[in-house]
Amino acid sequence: MDKLRQFAVIGGGLMGAGIAQVLAAAGRSVTVFEPDAAARANVNDRIAANLRLIGRDESAAVLVQVTDDLESAVATAQFVTEAAPEKLELKRAIFSDLVRMAPRDAILASNTSVIPISRIADGMETAERIVGTHWWNPPYLIPLVEVIQAKHTSDEVIGVTMDLMRALGKEPAHVRKDVPGFVANRMQHALWREAIAMVAEGICDARTVDTCVKNSFGLRLPVLGPLENADLVGLDLTLDIHRTIIPELDSHAGPNPYLEDQVNAGRLGFKTGEGFRTWTDSQIAELRASLVGHLVKIQRDLKN
Ligand SMILES: NC(=O)c1ccc[n+]([C@@H]2O[C@H](COP(=O)([O-])OP(=O)(O)OC[C@H]3O[C@@H](n4cnc5c(N)ncnc54)[C@H](O)[C@@H]3O)[C@@H](O)[C@H]2O)c1
Repeated sequence: MDKLRQFAVIGGGLMGAGIAQVLAAAGRSVTVFEPDAAARANVNDRIAANLRLIGRDESAAVLVQVTDDLESAVATAQFVTEAAPEKLELKRAIFSDLVRMAPRDAILASNTSVIPISRIADGMETAERIVGTHWWNPPYLIPLVEVIQAKHTSDEVIGVTMDLMRALGKEPAHVRKDVPGFVANRMQHALWREAIAMVAEGICDARTVDTCVKNSFGLRLPVLGPLENADLVGLDLTLDIHRTIIPELDSHAGPNPYLEDQVNAGRLGFKTGEGFRTWTDSQIAELRASLVGHLVKIQRDLKN
C-alpha cells in the first residue's frame, strides 16, 4: 500500500490536468503549478468535465489546487510530476528548481514523451530520485504508464513509483534502459515510419494504410501483443517471414523526406485541414468523438 498523499504537477495543460485528475479521483491532494493565466483559470473545469465524461464524481476536482507559485506548489509534495512542454532545456531548468524546492525525499518524475530521463537529470544533485513516468493521452482513459529507470534512478524509487501507479489503477511498465521513446513510442513510431514510407513509395494511399491496420492486426492487439502473436504462429514461421520482409522495410535514418515535404508545404493534418488526407471540421469532430467513445467503452468493459 503506498503512503503517498501529497502531489504536485508541474504544467496544467492537456497531460498535467489529466494526471492531476487521476490523482484526485484516487483521493490524493494535488497542487498544479501552471504559469499561463488562461490555462490556470480552467484547470478545475477541464478536470470536472472529464470526470463527468467517464461517469466519475466530478466533486473530486476540488482536491486539485492551482497556483502560479512553484515553490509553494512543491513545498509539501511527496511526489512531483513534470508535464511542461517537450523541450529539454526547459525541463532541465524545472528539475533544477524542483531539486532545490521540493522536500529532499520527494520523488521527481518527468512525463516526457521521448527524451531520455538521464538527459534531463544530468549533473543534478539527488538524481537517484529522478524517474520517468510516461503517461498516455488521455491519462484517465489509457491504462499504461511507463516507469523509466535511468542509470541514476534508485531501485527503491522505481518500486515506490510502480506501487503508486498500481494503487492509482494504472498498468505500470518498468523500462530498464533509458532509451529515447522508451518502449511503446518506439513501437508506435516504427509502425508510423513504415506507414509513411508505403504512402511515399506509392504502394497504397493513406486511407488504405489505416484501413489495413484497423481491420487486421489492429483488432487483435488488445488481446494479442506482437510477441505473443509471434509465439502463437511459431518462431520458425516468423523467421521465414522476416527473411523475406525485413530487408524490404523502410530504413531511413531520419524522418522520411515525404513527411518533411508535407510539413514544409503547411500540410499539418487536423490543424490545417490537410495532412496525409484532407479533413473537414465535421470529419475531425466525428473522429475525435469516436475515439473518446471507444476509449470510454473499453474503460467501462474493463470495470465490468
Ligand atoms: N499530448 C500528449 O499526447 C502527450 C502524451 C504523453 C506525454 N506528453 C508529454 O507531456 C508533456 C506535456 O505535454 P502536453 O500535451 O500536456 O502539453 P500542453 O502544451 O498541453 O501543456 C503544457 C503546459 O505547460 C505549461 N508550461 C509552460 N512553461 C512552463 C514552465 N516553465 N513550467 C511549468 N509549466 C509550463 C504550459 O502553459 C501548458 O499549460 C510534454 O513533455 C509531452 O511531450 C504528451
